[in-house]
Amino acid sequence: MRPETLDATELLEALRVHADSDDWGTLPPQVYCSEEIWDLELARVFRPGWVNVGHVSEVPTAGCFKAVDVLGEPMVMTRARDGSIHVLSRVCSHRWMDICGGSGAGSVPSLQCPYHRWTFGLQGALRAAPEMDETPGFYKADYSLHVFRHEVWEGFVFVNIDGSAPPTARLWGEMGQQLSNYGLSDWAVVHSIPWGESHWDWKVFMDNGECYHHLGAHHDTLEPFMPARLVVDAPDNGDYTLLYAGIAPEALAEGEGGQLVYPSTDRPTPGLDDQQRTSLGLAYPFPNYVIALTPQAMIWFEVHPLGPGRIDLTTHLLLPPHLIDAPDSDARVSGHVETLTAIHEQDILVCEGVQRGLQASAARPGMLSHLERHNRTFARWYARQMTASSTERPDSPG
Ligand code: FES
Ligand SMILES: [Fe+2]
Repeated sequence: MRPETLDATELLEALRVHADSDDWGTLPPQVYCSEEIWDLELARVFRPGWVNVGHVSEVPTAGCFKAVDVLGEPMVMTRARDGSIHVLSRVCSHRWMDICGGSGAGSVPSLQCPYHRWTFGLQGALRAAPEMDETPGFYKADYSLHVFRHEVWEGFVFVNIDGSAPPTARLWGEMGQQLSNYGLSDWAVVHSIPWGESHWDWKVFMDNGECYHHLGAHHDTLEPFMPARLVVDAPDNGDYTLLYAGIAPEALAEGEGGQLVYPSTDRPTPGLDDQQRTSLGLAYPFPNYVIALTPQAMIWFEVHPLGPGRIDLTTHLLLPPHLIDAPDSDARVSGHVETLTAIHEQDILVCEGVQRGLQASAARPGMLSHLERHNRTFARWYARQMTASSTERPDSPG
């Protein structure tokens, strides 16, 4: 038996202490492995929070859709005729068939269920239901698809499943201001890599957002030009973290007018400040959304938790407007994909290794370095979300 096996009540008590603590301790290891904690996370972190489902460029024109499974909810993100974005349930209002048949993306005039051909508009209204005229009490208006509350933040689409989350502007507005030079809404997805089910907890993924591990996991890839010691934490309000991983001075390239820039042959996004031109920006709106930004490219990690110790992961490459249709796009995309694949393979080794360690009887709470301020902010936020009573939730709508 594990020497320090705590039940869910004891784990919540440990989190309550953590939420108010000033120390640099990690979360208790068992919160990364527990089915009971996962059930509480669904109720206290994910359903009341904002969960990332896509980017506006994935549904660029009217009729485009993308199916996505989020926390057990089959959803479809659509762009309607008037250009508006919607996030609908894929559960048919007739007899619960997945109207997209499980997955898919593309462009359609309407959404049609493959089971009995009920047809829905791109905003969810039921348009046609064959052979239903003789059914007493049936009115099409009563059988729209469920519409999830959504918001678009900096070009990314988020859903709030229970409808109670405060506006994204209140949670992440300051970060949006700090990132405004990038003009993120105009960037577009140009390539996606589906990694599928990955065997580590969503919080292990978030923890891995620090740059301290460049020293070990990426000692031969990132550390030589993006050393751990050069990470700078931007101010945050506790609902997100924003980091800038600085480039070693000797690795910086010379850009237009002799300006030092992030090493790349591509022209940087215009309008960035000195720090943004010479760093990798890492943005983490909580609970589980991650983007990594160079002046010439963005990696978006689409993370869908599946249960304790399991996520579904896709990495997407996005480019800024001036590079989307620039010459040599195949070579540009394959170069980025090669780099991000090599680095992610190093991250797989450590994330899987951490998850195995978390499940061992010898796992104890650890201590964080000053280079892991991101982990400390995330752990406090998580502990607050998990332990606030429903009447005193730190974030309420408004
Ligand atoms: S279940 Fe969708 S039309 Fe019957
Ligand atoms: Fe990493």
